[in-house]
Amino acid sequence: MSRIYSCGILGLGSSLPEKVLTNFDLEKMVDTTNEWIMKRTGISERRILEKDVPAHELGVDAANKALKDAGISAEDLDLIIVATETPDYLTPSTSCLIQSRINAKKAAAFDLNAACSGFIYGLTVADQFIKSGYYKYVLLIGCEGLSKITDWEDRNTCVLFGDAAGAAVLGRVEDGYGIMSTYIGADGDLGKNITAPCCYLSCEDIEVRTRDNKRVLWMDGGEVFKFAVKVMEHGTNKVLEQSNLTLEDLKLIVPHQANIRILDGAAKRLGVSKDKIFINLHKYGNISSASIPVGLNEAYEGKMFTKGDNLVLVGFGGGLTWGSALVRWSK
Ligand code: UT7
Repeated sequence: MSRIYSCGILGLGSSLPEKVLTNFDLEKMVDTTNEWIMKRTGISERRILEKDVPAHELGVDAANKALKDAGISAEDLDLIIVATETPDYLTPSTSCLIQSRINAKKAAAFDLNAACSGFIYGLTVADQFIKSGYYKYVLLIGCEGLSKITDWEDRNTCVLFGDAAGAAVLGRVEDGYGIMSTYIGADGDLGKNITAPCCYLSCEDIEVRTRDNKRVLWMDGGEVFKFAVKVMEHGTNKVLEQSNLTLEDLKLIVPHQANIRILDGAAKRLGVSKDKIFINLHKYGNISSASIPVGLNEAYEGKMFTKGDNLVLVGFGGGLTWGSALVRWSK
């Protein structure tokens, strides 16, 4: 599709639950130690929703902040896309729940599930709508309540995840700025390495993918680890190539935050210094599709980049999926 308009990020916002769950709290819940978690993951604490609070509350809050930052009203929105692997309901979608709460009367709304790569998948979809001229304003939210599907008796996974939402308002920007390139991919053959059953459970799945009859998230961490380091490097290089840029042209890489050792490994393979990689996973753990927008928002609020700077956003996750984007900051 030819590019009629340039699409960029007009505003950002994020939302985190107040409740903090530290590694020391987890020591009392499963057979683990703060030392193991810090050394093997880099995570120190994570934010967790109260049991009776749905994840879309975080999405509403993040959306309102992003709209304010963009200086537009919810009524201006043409479309809401929510990237999530933890929708509060199968129907209505989280995007419809948020559309109603923020009063975005004119906006179409749908959810998209590409697990931790969801924000990049959503960015790629939103870019098509805006660059073609079909829509003027799209709200994209990564919204997750992972604590609700976490197996709190499985030390392999329960130390990793947290809850959060991050939102971006996308719209037309000056030519030469905004989303310069995106790249998304999937390898369903590797899908069994991260699962969270929903409407169907095969007999063989019942043993490992449920706990007390509750469907939970299960992961083969080692397999995902190897995949993650490879696609971080591949995804970053791919969007650089597609944009005719090199690593020297990059101001910052904002990656999906899953494990400090994955980020270190990717930095090494790429040959970039670690100060070019944004890191906040010690505070929030793995927040899936919210990871990249929450990180981007923190880097933006911390003035870590300015207009004209080139950023790479890169993620990987369940599916297995991956995605990357080259964004030239336009504000
Ligand atoms: O965003 C979605 C993508 N997900 C990811 O990117 C996750 C990628 N994978 C990882 O981050 C890592 O593989 C993990 C953090 C999940 C696991 O780290 P690891 O270094 O690969 O550990 P491991 O699974 O090989 O386990 C090593 C040992 C095992 O004990 P044995 O069998 O050697 O006696 C585990 O049982 O560590 C044990 N272990 C723990 N020990 C204390 C696993 N979890 C824990 C724990 N506390 N929480």
